[in-house]
Amino acid sequence: MYEKIVKPVLFKKDPESVHNNFLKFGEVLGSFFVSRKLIESLYLYKNKKLNIEIKGIKFENPIGLSAGFDKNGVLTDIIPSVGFGFMEIGSVTAKECLGNPKPRLFRVPEHDGIIVNYGLCNDGAEIIFNRLKDKKFRFPIGISIAKTNDASIKGDASVEEYFKAYEIMKDIGDYITINISCPNVGDGRSFEDTKLLEKLLKMIGKNHKPLFLKISPEISKKDLDKIIELNGKYNLAGFVVSNLTKDKKLIKKEINGGLSGRLTKKKADELIKYVYRKTKGKKIIIGVGGIFTAEDAYRKIRNGASLVQLITGMIYKGPGVIKEINKGLVKLLERDGFNSIKDAVGVDA
Ligand SMILES: Cc1cc2nc3c(=O)[nH]c(=O)nc-3n(C[C@H](O)[C@H](O)[C@H](O)COP(=O)(O)O)c2cc1C
Repeated sequence: MYEKIVKPVLFKKDPESVHNNFLKFGEVLGSFFVSRKLIESLYLYKNKKLNIEIKGIKFENPIGLSAGFDKNGVLTDIIPSVGFGFMEIGSVTAKECLGNPKPRLFRVPEHDGIIVNYGLCNDGAEIIFNRLKDKKFRFPIGISIAKTNDASIKGDASVEEYFKAYEIMKDIGDYITINISCPNVGDGRSFEDTKLLEKLLKMIGKNHKPLFLKISPEISKKDLDKIIELNGKYNLAGFVVSNLTKDKKLIKKEINGGLSGRLTKKKADELIKYVYRKTKGKKIIIGVGGIFTAEDAYRKIRNGASLVQLITGMIYKGPGVIKEINKGLVKLLERDGFNSIKDAVGVDA
């Protein structure tokens, strides 16, 4: 129904307005027991084979809502009912940020993708912390932090920026992702510079909940190897692989921002395998990029991801895609004689 009736109507409207209306609608649906149960009756799917425990955190299933859909943490009540096993809020920055000038979100239906140039618009850490601090979450929550989108904040000042967001948000949820790869901020991808990253990790210190680094699909192997080293040195949990692509050859047009969806799939799959091999499976990988089907999710798992995330698949195929993927994963596990997701992690790496 979504693809035949709802999507054609939604896709005629401005993408950012649709996103904002979805957030408002989702927030309302999440605040009532009856609407939550109704959504659950349509979308929830449970199976023990999908359960996975990572760093002491229990996930009902490995499919998460990726960072960027709920930047301000307004959907935490409804997303578990849609069938996701976890979600990542953000990216949250130290200061409130209005983001880049509009229009800044564009559909690219020929590639099942979205060009995103939001520029990290979000309410800022303080407001988001206050919104979430007394909430009892129904599933694991990750918080993605990033640097405020202001090109004048560079070098050591950007370390302070990240740290401020971290300090405010660190007690919310179950894990933290440091988004070191956002393609839309003024001065580019500065935090894949390991000197700055190491300063930040030193400031964070040893006592922290599971910490992940989100990398870009275009990261060089040289930079990635250094980041993998740091990940080990500072005892981080692992990596989110990967962010939007900025590869102009793939997109074949000049764009500001980055592209999500189908064209991010191959690079993310290869990077997951690379990181899994390089870390000998000792780091947790959250695989993301172009997941539309159970096969897409399963490939990432077999390449080394213990958890996966998506956004664009849900926009193109509707919220029913989560149930479809989870059901399909169970079939694929059974086909290959695995009893759990954990058994399949990294078997193709
Ligand atoms: C509308 C939108 C906003 C996004 N904003 C963020 C963000 O704030 N932080 C981040 O780490 N990734 C962000 N992303 C990237 C996604 O988390 C994900 O890495 C990427 O879209 C690839 O997954 P997909 O193909 O399933 O969408 C955003 C993606 C979309 C589509």
